[in-house]
Amino acid sequence: MVVSAHPLASEIGVNILKKGGNAADATIAVQFALAVVYPSAGNIGGGGFFVYRENNGHCSALDFREKAPLMASPDMYLDSNNNVVKDLSLYSHLAVGVPGTVDGMVNIHNKYGQLPWVELVQPAIDLADNGFELTKREADKLNRFNKRNNTNNNISEYYKDHYLEGDSIFLPQLSTTLTQIRDFKRSGFYKGEVAQMLVNEMKINGGMITQEDLDSYHSIWRKPIISYYKDYKVISMSLPSSGGILLTQMLKMAEHYPLRDYGFHSLKSVHVMTEIEKLSFADRAKYLGDPDFYDFPEKSLMDSLYLLKRINKIKMDSALLSSDVHAGELNLKESEETTHFSIVDKYGNASSLTTTLNGSFGSGIVVGGAGFLLNNEMDDFSIQPGYPNMYGLVGGEANSVEPSKRMLSSMTPTILEKDGKLFMVLGTPGGSTIITAVFQTIINVVEYDMDIDQAVNSPRFHHQWYPDEIKMEKGIAKDSNLVLQLKAMGHQLNFVSSMNRVDAVVLKRNKLFGGADKRGDDLVSSY
Ligand code: GLY
Repeated sequence: MVVSAHPLASEIGVNILKKGGNAADATIAVQFALAVVYPSAGNIGGGGFFVYRENNGHCSALDFREKAPLMASPDMYLDSNNNVVKDLSLYSHLAVGVPGTVDGMVNIHNKYGQLPWVELVQPAIDLADNGFELTKREADKLNRFNKRNNTNNNISEYYKDHYLEGDSIFLPQLSTTLTQIRDFKRSGFYKGEVAQMLVNEMKINGGMITQEDLDSYHSIWRKPIISYYKDYKVISMSLPSSGGILLTQMLKMAEHYPLRDYGFHSLKSVHVMTEIEKLSFADRAKYLGDPDFYDFPEKSLMDSLYLLKRINKIKMDSALLSSDVHAGELNLKESEETTHFSIVDKYGNASSLTTTLNGSFGSGIVVGGAGFLLNNEMDDFSIQPGYPNMYGLVGGEANSVEPSKRMLSSMTPTILEKDGKLFMVLGTPGGSTIITAVFQTIINVVEYDMDIDQAVNSPRFHHQWYPDEIKMEKGIAKDSNLVLQLKAMGHQLNFVSSMNRVDAVVLKRNKLFGGADKRGDDLVSSY
């Protein structure tokens, strides 16, 4: 079964599984297909995280996150008065981190691949060559993107001004780039013509990425974060994504409250989960960043006693003000626009992969001649202490810009086991809201006994410490008792039309059940 953000990508993944490929093979094919049919987040010019569980229970995690270029510096987004220059970290050539996706896919194939590499890249080439029809959502998204009027982005060479549902798109330059990747793997992207075009794109437009940056980029196998929630083993992504650590914190704090008795979206459950989210995001801002640069207090942050102390702050009758919440005191020795897919193969291997350009369509810059969009992941750094990134997240020293450093992420590709067996695979896009959406989807299944479709499609809420507000999906009525009571407790509410696209698989009684988020075109494809 494959659950992804685009029907064509899900189909391609299932075709690979039918041919005898495993979940890792399908992962690679879906990632490249999304780079063609889902350009707002699918990519070869971005990065992501991959969590894999083999059928023998062995787990691994791959970090193919982008890196800051070698020439990057902490003050690169500040003017001479030390003020942040608006949009420089978002929509300029300086916004682009060194892409990690192609190296990541090659690394996954080297470790787990069963089918030949060429068979995994070819379906994406065929889509780019033969064209594919736009869904209504994709046409609308491209039209909104075209209205963004940043310059020097080559967009008009690749995408038309206006699209209608059912229009076909052909991407010949992207096909040529994918063909290089098919034929030369890593070297097809980080060396040769494609690399030259990328470096040129940077040189003529004031960007920083050089051939040396491309040569020195490598994705890294990390130890996944493993924790337990009641009878469930939770396997999730480690730093430089904050996802696994924060999800662990949230679940461990939640374990102290009878959420099942409180009931789904009861005042008590929403209040408690909101306060837990606030406490976790305060820790994120102070303590987390790229583990290759500093030692971060991961273990202390996930320590049960520490988390028990943290929840002492929670009052059951009123909301904590964010200004009264701070990162915990540790006893230490010393961009919604991402996409996720979940895959389970007939052998019982499971893949959970979240990938992104950061903002929708990333920096909006297409590499001239090479036809692929570049990320704006540099905005995930804390570009000035306390200055919010595009998701409103604040940070400090731990996540400041440094040459070759990876920016802190919230991506949370996750796998759950029950009684030693695969139970659930899930993840979502949505920047900072990723972690809370994964947290709530797990609670929906485990505590509220929802089937996976209902768990994925129920309305969600989100608190990230700052801004001091609960973002609440409009599916929760503004005049509901829940909302009125939350306000009476002192919670500030901000209603948003929708958050996240959770794509998940659950294994129950030896049967797979898929949950595709109806907020998008997401599709469960299986055989
Ligand atoms: N670009 C969003 C994230 O990595 O969290």
